[in-house]
Amino acid sequence: MGEKITLSIIKADVGGWVGHSSVHPDLLSKTEECLENAKNQGLIIDYHRGKVGDDIALIMTHRHGPDNENIHKFAWETFEAATEVAKSLGQYGAGQDLLSDAFSGNLRGMGPGYAEIEFEERTSEPVIVFLADKTEPGAWNMPLYKIFADPFNTIGLIIDPKMHQGFNFEVDDLIEHKKVVFSCPEELYNLLIFIGAPGRFVVKSVFRKDTGEVAAATSTQRLFFMAGRYVGKDDPVMVVRCQSGLPAVGEALEPFAFPHLVAGWMRGSHHGPLMPVSWCDDTPTRFDGPPRVVALGFQLKDGNLGTPRDMFADKSYDKAREIALNAADYLRRHGPFEPHRLPLEEMEYTTMPEVMEKLKDRFIKSG
Ligand code: F6R
Ligand code: MG
Ligand code: MG
Repeated sequence: MGEKITLSIIKADVGGWVGHSSVHPDLLSKTEECLENAKNQGLIIDYHRGKVGDDIALIMTHRHGPDNENIHKFAWETFEAATEVAKSLGQYGAGQDLLSDAFSGNLRGMGPGYAEIEFEERTSEPVIVFLADKTEPGAWNMPLYKIFADPFNTIGLIIDPKMHQGFNFEVDDLIEHKKVVFSCPEELYNLLIFIGAPGRFVVKSVFRKDTGEVAAATSTQRLFFMAGRYVGKDDPVMVVRCQSGLPAVGEALEPFAFPHLVAGWMRGSHHGPLMPVSWCDDTPTRFDGPPRVVALGFQLKDGNLGTPRDMFADKSYDKAREIALNAADYLRRHGPFEPHRLPLEEMEYTTMPEVMEKLKDRFIKSG
């Protein structure tokens, strides 16, 4: 082989069925039609059409590298085609994530989220693609920390000689538009100062130290910062390569046995547990949630994705779902009060400033 493979996961919400809970089957079949055409024309090697909640994910392999104009243009046009179907069916928020009128160059700042990795395919290449709905890119911070830096999660960090040196984490500051690389475990505490604030600092990629190879990547777009107004949460994606010197499949899945609290849920304005679910349960319904994540396991061969496995369908995740539902009940009882509702700084990215503006003249000086 020798020639590098690129795995691109590009996602968008171009219309919900019903409200923001799922995607109509006709949008999914239109997406599949476009993907099949791209494969037949040789633009991509293989594809799988992913979905979580009201988001469609194009999972594609090709040899054009990350940020490729033709790949991004194809994704944009596919989402436009699905938007047309959404409009014809009166789907909710048709075209919601297509923030620009026309495609120009690549998808940066245009609405759709994407995570792309380029690598030399190993003899056997197990990869897990995670798709989340009703949350934001920082939702991956805690799982990535556990997978690649926490020996209580990943025993391989201690007993696999190929992992013992640790990993490098690239962290993006979504407000200042800066990035920094931390070498772990030496810089664990530096890493945690930042990624413990997932609304601003997001782990973008993780790299092997010895070879510099990419081990994981996330989508880090925040729609608010692009649109300048609230247009929903960013519903992020993540890809993790596994085994042979990288975390085992079970080590990559283990963090999700604890449904940690993330920002998102109803109106993108609440904390809620990130519930790992099977593909058949990827429909956020209660209070537009709770936030959820699906995992697709692939075993690549010559760039072909093969048949994906539904990794969270396993019974061993039933307990996590139960904990998540209990946490959801507990948090919901707080109604409009923090910390269920997001803190004021985060609410600034919602429609709340308009309400505040209306009331501003009612405030008079006190004391
Ligand atoms: C959260 C989300 C939904 C909507 C809510 C209100 O990311 O998508 O919870 O925010 O259903 O939607 P609109 O404002 O479109 O009526
Ligand atoms: Mg939506
Ligand atoms: Mg969504």
